[in-house]
Amino acid sequence: MKIVLASGNANKYKEMKEALAPAGIELLFGKELIPELDVEETGSTYAENSLLKARAWAEAAGMSALADDSGLEVEALGGLPGINSARIVSGSDADRTGWLLGELKGRENRNARFVACLTVVFTGSAQPLSVTGYCGGKIAEEPRGDSGFGYDPVFIPDGYDKSFAELGAEIKEKISHRAKALAALRQLFMRFNRTESKGGVQIFRAGK
Ligand code: IMP
Repeated sequence: MKIVLASGNANKYKEMKEALAPAGIELLFGKELIPELDVEETGSTYAENSLLKARAWAEAAGMSALADDSGLEVEALGGLPGINSARIVSGSDADRTGWLLGELKGRENRNARFVACLTVVFTGSAQPLSVTGYCGGKIAEEPRGDSGFGYDPVFIPDGYDKSFAELGAEIKEKISHRAKALAALRQLFMRFNRTESKGGVQIFRAGK
């Protein structure tokens, strides 16, 4: 089954393509297919935003589409930056990690979690499918390491004492929020060989 990835991020494309290949999914890179398509994220949840993106891409490309929306939720900040993680302050990733460390200065509670929601919009009448993955951890006192992107240098996942940026892609791709959501999606596709919708209900079938 061919699915277009509603994203211009080549790293995400590579990670998702490899993760979904064992389920018989051939993932196409949206940016290559329709370079000019840009969808505004006007939703108020990760699920709404990923659905918006997947719908727009499925319509424009005329095929099933997968979109993701993700963010960092910090307990002491009431869940901020959340769905606004990419734009909570303007500037670079370093400006945003700087903002976060400033907000948490002197605070003891440094609990946080990454969230990633993946939504697939199918062609035909099947209902969209959405899975969410979480990765709990703590916010470091200062940035450490240089692999990855976004808040990776200040996020220390549970069970580790290094940041995502120090741990590197190999470990991150096993334990991250996105990796967990991808694994769930892969399992759904592998376990159930057909999707369809009847009376507005998404039907999964096991076996042929
Ligand atoms: P989007 O889902 O591509 O819109 O990303 C939302 C924002 O959340 C990114 O720009 C990052 O700031 C942050 N984010 C999401 N996932 C990660 C991650 O795995 N590492 C670091 N930052 C992330």
